[in-house]
Amino acid sequence: MTMLKDVTGSTLSFNACKATQKLQEMAKAPYDLTKEGNLTPQRLAKFTAEAAGYKFLYGTERVTEETMHALMDLAGEMHALEKMEKMQAGEIMNFIEGYPSEQRQVLHTALRDFFDHPNPAKAAIEATQTARKEAEKLKAFISKLDKDNRFTDLLIVGIGGSELGPKAQYEALKFHQKPSRHVHFIGNVDPDTIASTVRDLHLKKVLVVVISKTGGTLETATNEEVLRALFKEAGIKAEEHFVAITAKGSPMDDKKKYAEIFHMWDWVGGRFSSSSCVGGFLIAFACGFDTYWDFLRGCNAMDKAALQKDLNKNLPLLGALLGIWNRNFLKSVILAVIPYSQALARYPAHMQQVDMESNGKQVDQQGQLVDFETGPIIFGEPGTNAQHSFYQLIHQGTTPVPLELIGFKNSQFGEDRILHGTTSQEKLLSSLFAQSIALATGQKNENPNKAFPGNRPSHILLARQLTPFALGALLSYVENKIAFQGFIWGINSFDQEGVQLGKTVANKIIARFAAQHGETAGAQPFPLGDALLKHLETL
Ligand code: F6P
Repeated sequence: MTMLKDVTGSTLSFNACKATQKLQEMAKAPYDLTKEGNLTPQRLAKFTAEAAGYKFLYGTERVTEETMHALMDLAGEMHALEKMEKMQAGEIMNFIEGYPSEQRQVLHTALRDFFDHPNPAKAAIEATQTARKEAEKLKAFISKLDKDNRFTDLLIVGIGGSELGPKAQYEALKFHQKPSRHVHFIGNVDPDTIASTVRDLHLKKVLVVVISKTGGTLETATNEEVLRALFKEAGIKAEEHFVAITAKGSPMDDKKKYAEIFHMWDWVGGRFSSSSCVGGFLIAFACGFDTYWDFLRGCNAMDKAALQKDLNKNLPLLGALLGIWNRNFLKSVILAVIPYSQALARYPAHMQQVDMESNGKQVDQQGQLVDFETGPIIFGEPGTNAQHSFYQLIHQGTTPVPLELIGFKNSQFGEDRILHGTTSQEKLLSSLFAQSIALATGQKNENPNKAFPGNRPSHILLARQLTPFALGALLSYVENKIAFQGFIWGINSFDQEGVQLGKTVANKIIARFAAQHGETAGAQPFPLGDALLKHLETL
């Protein structure tokens, strides 16, 4: 069999790396955090890294310096940094060798490369210029909206990458929101979503932004049509109230239907688009364009950190390597993402898509089935709420769950009170730090039901405050971390074929429903679908 070369010219695969074998040996006796004298203040001071305003504390992971060296060797053998450079320079990274695939550049980093030391590669410059033009257009459009002051409410219609990132960002930046501006989201095709959202809105004051890269997503297209009908029924011209964000040439790219159209490009994947107008529109509308700019600055700072060779400055690579250690060598199936910040309540849901849609893959970039584990299951809720929900399993369950904890020194609003000697923010931070220590050390007890096994790994991303800059840096941390993991596994993190089958089957069932309404054009026999539909008759 001829070995296919990857983008760096290498034929090496994850399991064939020397470092993989070394790490497998090391994983037979990983660092024991429960052993007396092993989790020390010195260790917590030493295992740290820093970039773009974040400290990364990982003394509570089951690693030694040797483990970290071996993980770096693995990154080296799989050319992880070289691939990151190629990605940011605009080489085609989204492909499966020898099979029809998207064959695209992956340039979401160009969406914010507007600051110091922009990428000098020709393709990156071109993409950055295109993105900047669109950002300027957004700035002008928002300034016009500010002057007219006609719209108080923004209704975002979109799903997946066209909703999750924007929603997470909106929640995170609410502190910066102008009092007269409100944002609402309609993602699901569930009619209750529209009904409950529109019920309290004064449509004359509503600007609808329909976001769909493909311009053909069933949920978004349906919700847009329903909304247009509601506007028409209210005697309002929809074309004055609707804005589109879509790819050039998509079915939505029709100037007659919208007050303005902002474009997306095939070099930015949907789930990687939230720093474009997709997420930028609502930030600029609700909080002001400068807030969006600060957010981009944060993204850019972490993008640059992702190019650093020094692991102590490259948080995305560090996070990726620890994730691979836990997933492939310590055999964890899951990663819990727990922000100790209520403003990041929607962040785990966004991360879920960024990670699971990217790295939930079973073939490598050569189309071969992989013989190792790829992306973990991601879930999460804000701490401390999470502690009162599922931490029981994390402390004493039979499935080890590594954690990515996120925290901030200061709250956003700064409105806090000292009660019993501490502020609420201090109580929140105490819980964050306490969990990382308790999970690591565990606790012996004669009563087995009160014993904690410990050795449950976690790390903490810690920043001064959840500012727009810090939010951008956090987004870029995850985007680049996921890309690094894909590079090291040798998979394509940038397509999403796995979502197609369900959509095709759903369309067959939709056609069966349509036939019941007398629309028989697309209907084909589908006995399995009919068998399930039959159950509706008895309800
Ligand atoms: O079904 C998954 C998906 O293709 C995501 O990758 C994407 O973010 C989402 O649908 C929405 O797609 P679009 O922006 O094209 O409507």
